[in-house]
Amino acid sequence: MFPLTFFQDEASLIVQGVMSGFIGQLPVRVVAIPFQILPMPAKKDMISAIMKKGNTKLTVVGAGAVGTSAAQWAVQRNAAEHVVLVDVVEGLPQGKALDMAQSAPVCGYSGRITGTNDYSETAGSDVVIITAGLARKPGMSRDDLLGKNVRIIKDVTRQVARYSPDACLIVVTNPIDAMVYTAFKVSGFPKQRVIGMAGVLDSARYRTFIAQALDVSPSDVTALVMGIHGDNMLPLVRLASVGGIPLQELLPEEEIKAIVNRTQNGGAEIVAHLKTGSAFTTPGLASVEMAQSILQDQKRVLACAAYLEGEFGIDGVFLGVPVVLGAGGVERILEFPLNKEERAALESSVKAVKRQVEATGL
Ligand code: LAC
Repeated sequence: MFPLTFFQDEASLIVQGVMSGFIGQLPVRVVAIPFQILPMPAKKDMISAIMKKGNTKLTVVGAGAVGTSAAQWAVQRNAAEHVVLVDVVEGLPQGKALDMAQSAPVCGYSGRITGTNDYSETAGSDVVIITAGLARKPGMSRDDLLGKNVRIIKDVTRQVARYSPDACLIVVTNPIDAMVYTAFKVSGFPKQRVIGMAGVLDSARYRTFIAQALDVSPSDVTALVMGIHGDNMLPLVRLASVGGIPLQELLPEEEIKAIVNRTQNGGAEIVAHLKTGSAFTTPGLASVEMAQSILQDQKRVLACAAYLEGEFGIDGVFLGVPVVLGAGGVERILEFPLNKEERAALESSVKAVKRQVEATGL
């Protein structure tokens, strides 16, 4: 137990102020725990973590399938204290937010949920997940969406940047690598605060297929997909492992090739089943995984589309790479040597992204 004198240093007022904000929402006996277990050397970090969690606001733009999934996961995972769902369609975000608010007593969410058509309600967001735009139908590539979605992303980004100038943007709209570039250019935000979702989703698909092939828990599969969110994505075989054992020791080459191929076509496989749209459950979750790492300064290592300036020998494009996501957004890009084949695959990703970016006209 910590003596009361712990609070008699210069940090005490901050701690007491922050904790009093919590008392309204948490049982007092839970509130007391951090006072007792806070180790002295870590107390400053703890204070900033508590302050960050006390105030977080997450906006999801677009109340379509992916946006709804993201908001729902955010509520379910207590990712932020205030979740805002915004959409142009009147009544849609309001109805969905009200529905989600009614899940709070069952799932244990104690924050606020707002559904709105008015961007002023998103003001002061810490993270904004942008899902607005059209989704694929069977036979369409992600590139087919570019023309219409670039206009939507430009408009959304202007509104978001106006009301939340300090936010981190997570772009989910396809084609992601070009849409995140659009948001970067239009917002004028530093590169650390504009990030594309895709690697978390693609890596999750890769891990799922590996786990199914070996009949093991997906949680024990570690695997990374880099590059574009498209056919040229790069599921790394050399670095995939299962419970610490290299994948190549566990599965024959042909089977691994089939898994890599299925991962690259993971989105299209779902579109072919659904016929009316694309995947939404895991895309929503993947974006919340990223948001949560930022909102709670978790410093997760996640594959994300980050703006590259020389990393991996690539310059001036957003591309899926492993990054450390913390309170500042992309805090670091984890660069490592690639072999010849991997480098060639990444270069074909770069070519494809550059073609998309040219088509945005930016
Ligand atoms: C997919 C969409 C998000 O891959 O591109 O399912």
